This record gives sequence, C-alpha cells and structure tokens, in this order.
Amino acid sequence: MNILVAGGAGYIGSHTCLVLLEAGHQVIVADNLINSKMEAVRRVEQLTGKNIKFYLADVTDEKAMEQLFSENKIDGIIHFAGLKAVGESVEQPLKYYHNNVVSTMVLAKMMERYGVKKFVFSSSATVYGDNEIPFVETMQLLPTTNPYGQTKVMSEQILTDLAAVHEDWAVTLLRYFNPIGAHPSGRIGEDPQGIPNNLMPYISQVAAGQREYLRVWGDDYPTIDGTGVRDYIHVMDLAEGHVKALESMDEQKGLAVYNLGTGRGTSVLELVKAFETVNKIKIPYQVKERRAGDIAEFYADAGKAARCLGWKTTRTIEDMCRDTWNWQSQNPRGYEE
Ligand code: NAD
Ligand code: UFG
Repeated sequence: MNILVAGGAGYIGSHTCLVLLEAGHQVIVADNLINSKMEAVRRVEQLTGKNIKFYLADVTDEKAMEQLFSENKIDGIIHFAGLKAVGESVEQPLKYYHNNVVSTMVLAKMMERYGVKKFVFSSSATVYGDNEIPFVETMQLLPTTNPYGQTKVMSEQILTDLAAVHEDWAVTLLRYFNPIGAHPSGRIGEDPQGIPNNLMPYISQVAAGQREYLRVWGDDYPTIDGTGVRDYIHVMDLAEGHVKALESMDEQKGLAVYNLGTGRGTSVLELVKAFETVNKIKIPYQVKERRAGDIAEFYADAGKAARCLGWKTTRTIEDMCRDTWNWQSQNPRGYEE
C-alpha cells in the first residue's frame, strides 16, 4: 500500500516508517519538523535501503495537503502529527487545539475529497482519565486534566462521527500506553528537545551524565513501592501494531479502537533498577513531591488487539532499557551531528 505517514519524522513515526518499508509498503511522509529532524528520515532510508517521499508541510495547511494528495494516490493514512507536551498544552491551549484537532480535520477532508478509505489515529491512554485498571476499550472515558488529552478525546470523537457516516471507511483509534526504547541498531530513537518531561528520556540523560540525578515524582502512591506505575511498551512493538492495524483494514468496516500496551505495569523504581542492571550504570535519584496531574497506576488490557489483530508485544523491559541506552550512547546529542 501507499501510506501517508503524517508526523513520520518523529519518534514513533520514524520507527513505523521503518516497519512499513520492511513490510513492502511505500511511504510518503508529511512533517513540518517542529519536533523532529530530517536526519531521522534519512536514517530510516539507510536502514531499509528504501526511499521515502518527503513533504516538508504542515498538516493543518489545507493547501499543502491538497497538493500532496493530488500528486499521490494514497491508500491509507497514519496520523502521528501532533504536539505532545502536556505541560505546554496547559500554558498554550490554543496552539494544541489548533495543531492537534485541525490536523485531524484536514486529513479527514482529504479522505473525503480523494477517496482514501483507511485512517489510523495516534491516540493515548490519557483518554481513559483516572479509571479502574486495567484500562479496557469499552470503558466509559473519564475527563482528562489537560488540553493535550482533550485534543485526543476531540479527535477520537470527530473520527467516530465520520466513521459512522462513511460506511466504506475503516478508521482505527490506537490508544498508546508509554512508548520507550529504540530500534536495536541504535540509529533511530527518541530525541527530546530541551529538558525531558518523560521518565525514560530523563533516565537515559542521567546515565549519559547530562543530568545529575533523576527526580522521582512521589513515593507515597498506593503502588508496589510507592512510585507511579505505567505500562511501558517498546516502540518497535508499537510500530508493528500500526502495520497490523493497517493490514487488517480490508476486512474492517467503520470504527475500531485498540489499546497498544503490554498489559503489565512497571514502577518508576523498577524501571530504574532494570536500566541499571541491563546497562551496568548507576542512576542516582532523589524522591520529590508528586507531580500535579499524575495518576498513581495504569496499564492496558491488551486482549482486544491480540484477539482481533493477532498482535502482541514481544519485547521485555530489559530490551527497552538496552535499546534506549544503545541509542543514547551512540547519539549523545540526538540527531544533531
Ligand atoms: P514526536 O513529536 O516525536 O512526533 C510527532 C511528529 O509530528 C514530529 O515529527 C513533528 O514535527 C510532527 N508534527 C507535529 N505537528 C505537525 C503538523 N501540524 N504538521 C506536520 N507535522 C507535525 O511525537 P511521538 O512521540 O512520535 O508521538 C506521535 C503521536 O503519538 C502524537 O500524536 C502523540 O500525541 C501520540 N502519542 C505519543 C505518546 C508518547 O508517549 N510518545 C503517547 C501517546 C500518544
Ligand atoms: N516520572 C518521574 N520523574 C520524571 C519523569 C516521570 O518520577 O522525571 C514518573 C511520573 O511521575 C510517572 C512515570 O514516571 O509516574 C511516567 O511518567 P511519564 O511522564 O514518562 O509518562 P506519563 O504516563 O505521565 O505520560 C505519558 C505521556 C502522556 C500520555 C501518557 C499515556 O507523556 O502524553 O504517557 O500514554 F498521555
């Protein structure tokens, strides 16, 4: 298939492009590089020996998308092109609503205009809110506490309404848990700009000596050791989940929603320990106050994706820690040479 990967230069997008190319699909990337580097696309081409057609374009720009769709016959779209910094979304809500919701609407318009029938959307476990664990697709969603989460809820709603009227469309909402890790080559990985907000990039910068110690946000939660528990998923497993979802769409009519997680929870201190053991590097840490808006513990019910897509994660927490460090140590400044 000819797949448009919106946001394909980013962390999850670049790994997904690689898996798509290896599975024999053609890839067109549209990315404005607001949170990524062209080098990621080049490295995917090097790793696979295949070409990516790249458009430096903003997905909210209808004219630019018109041009792309008129120049290419697109069979399916994967929409990764979102802004994702939760704290920034609280400070700049309009930027987030515009980027994340309008991009979804513009791509949906292009589907209507150009007869594209397959759409995969990057959603997030954040749409469940502070629900009972494990999170199951059939749950009533609870309010999210920030504009970022709200853009995911709104995009899900728009796509749900569209799938209801376009009977020949297949629309899949993928709710990711916590993606970490990198391609085992160490050539592509997560390249956060500025001080990382997320746990694993922070740990790897501490390991690299770029930060003095990890700040553990709270150790008084009702969890196994008092620290927050998440369902960490290897980015390669996540990327494979997207390809499975796309390839199952010929039999799918209408809307499908899947959790992409492992179904297992890991605490902050368990992840630190695993990283230390696998990579033989000490990670100093200090326990601090809880971070506002954090949930104590969540993980996926991963059963539906296994039953319906035949997709299961195969990589362990140890693999995630090893591959993260392999990427970080080979690329201490990310994609900047
Ligand atoms: P990322 O920032 O690395 O990738 C997003 C890519 O989209 C970047 O290359 C960025 O330049 C591009 N982009 C953003 N807005 C754009 C626009 N208007 N036009 C064109 N390109 C644009 O982030 P990621 O971690 O790869 O996340 C991909 C998607 O998955 C996002 O929608 C994110 O919200 C969602 N998600 C991520 C996580 C996570 O923890 N990483 C968890 C749940 C959901
Ligand atoms: N944590 C620390 N110190 C840090 C960073 C994080 O102790 O420096 C803790 C957090 O308190 C939490 C856990 O590590 O208990 C994971 O935190 P992350 O920030 O890595 O991930 P979150 O689960 O908070 O959020 C991420 C994304 C959200 C997304 C969610 C679910 O940032 O956008 O996963 O997919 F919604």
